Amino acid sequence: MEFQIRTPGSTANLGPGFDALGLALTLYNHVTVRTCEKPGFEASAEGEGQHALATDETNLFYQSALFTAQKIGKKLPGLRVHLNNRVPLSRGLGSSSTAIVAGAIAANHLFGSPLSQQDLLDLTTEKEGHPDNVSPCLLGGLTMSAVEGTHVACVRSLPPQNLQAVVAIPQFELKTSEARKALPAHVPLKDAVYSISRACLVTAALMTGQFEHLATAMQDRLHQPYRAHLIPNFYEIIEAALAAGALGAALSGAGPTMMALATENTQAVGQAMTAVWRQNNIPATYHVLSIDTGGAVIL
Ligand code: HSE
Repeated sequence: MEFQIRTPGSTANLGPGFDALGLALTLYNHVTVRTCEKPGFEASAEGEGQHALATDETNLFYQSALFTAQKIGKKLPGLRVHLNNRVPLSRGLGSSSTAIVAGAIAANHLFGSPLSQQDLLDLTTEKEGHPDNVSPCLLGGLTMSAVEGTHVACVRSLPPQNLQAVVAIPQFELKTSEARKALPAHVPLKDAVYSISRACLVTAALMTGQFEHLATAMQDRLHQPYRAHLIPNFYEIIEAALAAGALGAALSGAGPTMMALATENTQAVGQAMTAVWRQNNIPATYHVLSIDTGGAVIL
C-alpha cells in the first residue's frame, strides 16, 4: 500500500487566543507512506529540517502513528516514508502538528479509517498537548477549540477569501517548550479581561470581515509580553507591519515567527517586518500565504 498525505502549517493564538485559536496556511508538508514486509520504520527527508529530523523510530510522524494504532488496538505494519517539508521547524508555524496529524491519518487509513475526524482531533490534541495547531492542520480554515477532558470542542470557519497571512521567519529557532517556560502561572484579572475581550473580538472580526478591529483585537497580555524578550525587536516588527499596511500583527504561535494579517500591500508588509531583523543582523525571510481551507488530505 502506498499513499501520500498533505498537511498544512498553521499559525496559532492570533494574539489573544492563546491555546484556542488557529489558522491553517497554504504552506504544506507532504509525506509519502509505503507499507513493507520488514517491520519497523525508516524515513528519508528533504526540504525544511532535512538534516535535523529523526529518521528512525523516534520520528514524530511514526510516534503519532504508533499512538493512533494503539488507540485503534492494532499493530502497525512496517513503514517506509519520505518526508518533503516546507514548514520550518521550531518557528511557530505548527510543524510538529503537521507530523502528528499526518501520523494519525496514516495509521487510521491503514486500518480502514475506523476513527472519525473528531477522534483524530481528540487524539492529536492529546499527543500535541494543546489544540490550536492540530485543529487547523486537520480541518483547515480558522479554528476555535476548547479542551474538555479528553474531548476537543472545535468550530471551524472560513474568513473572507481576500485575507492573507504574512509570516516573517527569522533564521533562529525557538522551542515551544522554552517559550512556554517563560509564561507565568498567574496573571492579573485585568490582563485576563484584556485578552478575553480581544480573543472574542479577533474571532468575530475574522468571521464577519470587520477587519478594522484587527489591530486592537490581535493585542494580548497572556503570553506575548512574557515572550517578547525571546524575540529580538518584537514590538518594532509589529509596528513596522502596521505602518506598512497590515491590519494586525502578533507572534505566530510560540514564535519566533511574527505574523501579520493583511488584504493589501502584503509584499511591503513582509519586507518591512524582515527589514527590522536584517537591520539588527538577524537573517529572515517572509512568505505571503493564503488561508488553507481543506486541512489535511490523503492525495
Ligand atoms: N498556543 C501554543 C503556545 C502554540 O503559544 O505555546 C504553540 O505553537
